[in-house]
Amino acid sequence: MTDTTVPTDANVQTGLGRFGEFGGRYVPEALVAALEELDEQRLKANHDPGFIGELAELHRSYTGRPSIITEVPRFAEHCGGARVVLKREDLNHTGSHKINNVLGQALLTKRMGKTRVIAETGAGQHGVATATAAALLGLDCVIYMGRVDTERQALNVARMRLLGAQVVPVDHGSRTLKDAVNEAFRDWVANVEHSHYVLGTVTGPYPFPEMVRDFHRIIGVEARQQVLDAYGRLPDAICACVGGGSNAMGIFHRFIDDSGVRLIGLEAAGEGLESGRHAARFSGQAIPGVLHGAFTYVLQDEDGQTVESHSVSAGLDYPSVGPEHSFLRDSGRAEYDSITDDEAMEAFRLLARTEGILPAIESAHALAGAMKVGRDLGPEGFVLVSLSGRGDKDVDSAARWFGLLDEGEV
Ligand SMILES: Cc1ncc(COP(=O)(O)O)c(C=O)c1O
Repeated sequence: MTDTTVPTDANVQTGLGRFGEFGGRYVPEALVAALEELDEQRLKANHDPGFIGELAELHRSYTGRPSIITEVPRFAEHCGGARVVLKREDLNHTGSHKINNVLGQALLTKRMGKTRVIAETGAGQHGVATATAAALLGLDCVIYMGRVDTERQALNVARMRLLGAQVVPVDHGSRTLKDAVNEAFRDWVANVEHSHYVLGTVTGPYPFPEMVRDFHRIIGVEARQQVLDAYGRLPDAICACVGGGSNAMGIFHRFIDDSGVRLIGLEAAGEGLESGRHAARFSGQAIPGVLHGAFTYVLQDEDGQTVESHSVSAGLDYPSVGPEHSFLRDSGRAEYDSITDDEAMEAFRLLARTEGILPAIESAHALAGAMKVGRDLGPEGFVLVSLSGRGDKDVDSAARWFGLLDEGEV
């Protein structure tokens, strides 16, 4: 898809899926009817007891919801003594929060009478979740993945193929998530009559940002009740990593009206903001522009060309961010900070050693954020962390990072 810096009047769809000035629908004509059908179906489904019941039953008996919360006191000793509680999306079937959205979209695909799903994936978790739902519901499935990501997430490539999906490595551009999204959109334009694009995060053209958020909202709905039941109070701060921003929107949304709760999104500072090798849209040089169908903050140069992002975590390595985050940031309701690769890997090791939990490297960014905010808050503080995924997919990367394998074992 074409990247442009500022939308012109011709392609602005006023009022459609806007969060302030952000969001909208910037797509080729060929996709408009499919997006309208999707919007109609998902709005109907939101009020249909049959759909709501079917999704709730899948969450209960397939995903394993509600996911539990876990207090981590030994880890919290490194967070200024603040109370730290994890929302355990890592325990979901397939290993991350991504399944919440995918099951909802896969059910909608059936309702639209479509037989094939397309998805993009960075860390592979969204691809695995989509391949899983496709197997469960009998849909054909094609997953686009940047070549670099197929190498750093080889385990997930094998998982998707075992589940019956076709995985297509993408060799354009930086060969990471942005390029996979471009390919997925191209496929969708060509096959839109029988295919649905299961977009994996809270970005893209309307209605994706709103729909994906709504499917992930369950994270915050459950967590809010769970912390009230267990501790009788709301947290002071919520930390969540932000790639496109789906797990963060999922846990933040139910707390937006709780003005005493700080919402803190953690982006990837990669090798450091000064290095230029990062994916920190809000802390870096991002300015609003259009990427992948939405008007939102995008890392770009003065000519409006999208700048390549970098992160040790494939799932955060994306030059843009969901439009609702852009709105929450500019309106001041949410704060965004960035975490370097080194800081994230240190938090990864710390959670493993102190609590026996291997987090996804993406989620380790949120843990590193909790270490910073916990030190600000002190021993009276209470931080809720979205542990968006488990680290099985990252064992190889982490073992290399920490030099744990002898030659010949690599
Ligand atoms: C475990 C995990 N957490 C977080 C992310 C980032 O995505 P999002 O910002 O949409 O939650 C990914 C993406 O692949 C992921 O696999």
